[in-house]
Amino acid sequence: MLMDMKTKLAQLQVFSGYAPTPFDTAVAPGTPQELFEQWLDQAIALQVMEPHVMTLSTVDRENMPDARAVVLLDVTTQGWHFAINMRSPKGQQLDHHPYAALTCYWPELAQQIRLRGPVVPLSADASIADFSRRPERSRAAILAARQSEILESPRDLETAIQGQLYRLSAEPGLISPHWVLFALAPREVEFWQADSNRHFTRLRYRRDGDDQRWERNLLWP
Ligand SMILES: Cc1cc2nc3c(=O)[nH]c(=O)nc-3n(C[C@H](O)[C@H](O)[C@H](O)COP(=O)(O)O)c2cc1C
Repeated sequence: MLMDMKTKLAQLQVFSGYAPTPFDTAVAPGTPQELFEQWLDQAIALQVMEPHVMTLSTVDRENMPDARAVVLLDVTTQGWHFAINMRSPKGQQLDHHPYAALTCYWPELAQQIRLRGPVVPLSADASIADFSRRPERSRAAILAARQSEILESPRDLETAIQGQLYRLSAEPGLISPHWVLFALAPREVEFWQADSNRHFTRLRYRRDGDDQRWERNLLWP
């Protein structure tokens, strides 16, 4: 018998994974960067799939939210780094309104991490270095990008990439001026963890502006 959508969804589990280490907020480090690294190390050790993929949320000119996955490239005192094409919708959105959120959920560990705050471009040299370290086909794809425009035919994409590969073979040092490395410098970072008793522990780090001192609070689940 066919199951209706609501029943199908109701039968799926949530928070079925759990982190083997209890979330002891009393010994949480002073900065969210340190706690993020501890959690990421555990996620890598426990083979969480692609723990460095985060959802980047932005708003457009009409204040309509938008969101998509990006790869996390680094975490420093400047913030959480990712790279995008400025000609894409998200690039335009960040140009207009340079604030964003980054979110990830690791089902194997029943852990969620949320950040929000201003987004700042890193130096031009850093963006060039990020572009240059990429494999040739990836650089060609970035150079060919007309991201999120209507693609009339898949053939057009391959033709555009081949064209850029040809350019790169003649000029290997070619870079895309539209490829920009950003850091989201969070004002708030929240770490959320479920345990086997379905207790949810939430720890939020918060700071004002560029103040490096983080205030830490537990939150009601
Ligand atoms: C797992 C995953 C990782 C991605 N990483 C990036 C990334 O690092 N940078 C990027 O520009 N797009 C990345 N994308 C593609 C974006 O999610 C999105 O489809 C594309 O950038 C167009 O977004 P926009 O129309 O909102 O600008 C990734 C997609 C997936 C599924």
